[in-house]
Amino acid sequence: MRGTQGKRVKAMHISTLIFTGIIVAICVLATLPFIMVLGKDAPFVTMPYDTVDRVMTLAGIGPGDVFYDLGSGDGRLVIAAARRGAKAVGIELTRVRIWYSRVLIKLAGVSSRAEIRREDFFAADISDATVVHLYLLTETHEKLKDKFLKELPAGTRVVATGFPIPGMKLLAENPEGTYYGPIRLYVV
Ligand SMILES: C[S@@+](CC[C@H](N)C(=O)[O-])C[C@H]1O[C@@H](n2cnc3c(N)ncnc32)[C@H](O)[C@@H]1O
Repeated sequence: MRGTQGKRVKAMHISTLIFTGIIVAICVLATLPFIMVLGKDAPFVTMPYDTVDRVMTLAGIGPGDVFYDLGSGDGRLVIAAARRGAKAVGIELTRVRIWYSRVLIKLAGVSSRAEIRREDFFAADISDATVVHLYLLTETHEKLKDKFLKELPAGTRVVATGFPIPGMKLLAENPEGTYYGPIRLYVV
């Protein structure tokens, strides 16, 4: 009798554990998409590859350029710029994206010209840039404008995808950007 009761209690413990495990797994899976897009000053949104090409074309990226992508995500713009012969640097804070983009850089065979630095872009030294790219949010672009005007030499190109940089001198625009807006080319 006691043995049967003991088995029942054990079975109840196991089913409670399984139930709790399932609930925890559902909660983790449900929040994963939100966790994956989290970013300090802008969420992670990938850029379509045809837009990446348009950014490269509008900015005229080529050998001799030093290209920075502030908030480099999975590194696709860094790889594209390095493939066009530029020295390319991605600045990113989120470890999983840094790890992933470093693997993609290796697979693309552009490690000699491309790197990802784990830094907050507000604190990063970008003074050797000839081209800087942003795909963040208007308020973040506006805050970065002060850094550009202080730290970048006159003539440095700044490309903003999707969102404008209020108060900067616009040179050219390609309306075929992303869902959020065109690609805009500015100059310091
Ligand atoms: C919209 S994604 C842009 C990704 C990439 N540039 C592209 O166009 O495909 C913005 C990225 O900025 C990163 N980010 C946000 N705030 C940051 C900060 N203060 N310093 C460095 N990276 C940041 C996020 O982690 C995210 O990966």
